Amino acid sequence: MPYAVYVFDAYGTLFDVHAAVRKHADTIGPDGARLSEIWRAKQLEYSWVRALMGRYQDFWALTEQALDHAFACVPSADPKYRAALLDAYRELDCYPEVPAVLRALKEHGARTAILSNGSPAMLDSAVRSAKIDTLLDAVLSVDELQTYKTAEPVYEMATTSFRVFPQAISFQSSNRWDVAGATAFGFRTVWVNRTGQQDEYRDLSPSAVLATLDGLPALG
Ligand code: LAC
Repeated sequence: MPYAVYVFDAYGTLFDVHAAVRKHADTIGPDGARLSEIWRAKQLEYSWVRALMGRYQDFWALTEQALDHAFACVPSADPKYRAALLDAYRELDCYPEVPAVLRALKEHGARTAILSNGSPAMLDSAVRSAKIDTLLDAVLSVDELQTYKTAEPVYEMATTSFRVFPQAISFQSSNRWDVAGATAFGFRTVWVNRTGQQDEYRDLSPSAVLATLDGLPALG
């Protein structure tokens, strides 16, 4: 492969963040999709706000706080499902193409890693339940730095860990803002635009856009 290392964002890119609510769709009721959207949006907002303030709390704490807020915003969803949703979040489904793509990259001699806002415990649980732990050379968490993407030191964890220059890394994320941060750092970036989002951060464009990770091995 043309890149020595393929680094992946975790949530939304490898793991489907809406799988937890979907798993309990029948009990959560008609506003499940809205609950899930608010949950994800607030989880991310809390990470950016806390990083800017320098008041880190780990991503699991933010995930819990964001879910509580989502329940408050969606009265039709009963908060008694809080624990069940958090349990499901620890064991999110990975997208169906993920194992084969990681395997293909590794068969071509590339190394693979996750670089995520997730806490080490939540990432460990997610990669094990998705059975992709053996297909990853490293799982890098921001927890070591006590800050969040898009702070530059977060992306630097990948170059430091693999002892390569940024240009040797291909970085994949479904989060357009994360792609912007990774592009600014100097990675080759691939935006996995799974849900047909509009482009933004026009001065920090990805090198390529894919609808799923399927096309990554062919892209190189
Ligand atoms: C992550 C979040 C941003 O995995 O999706 O880093």
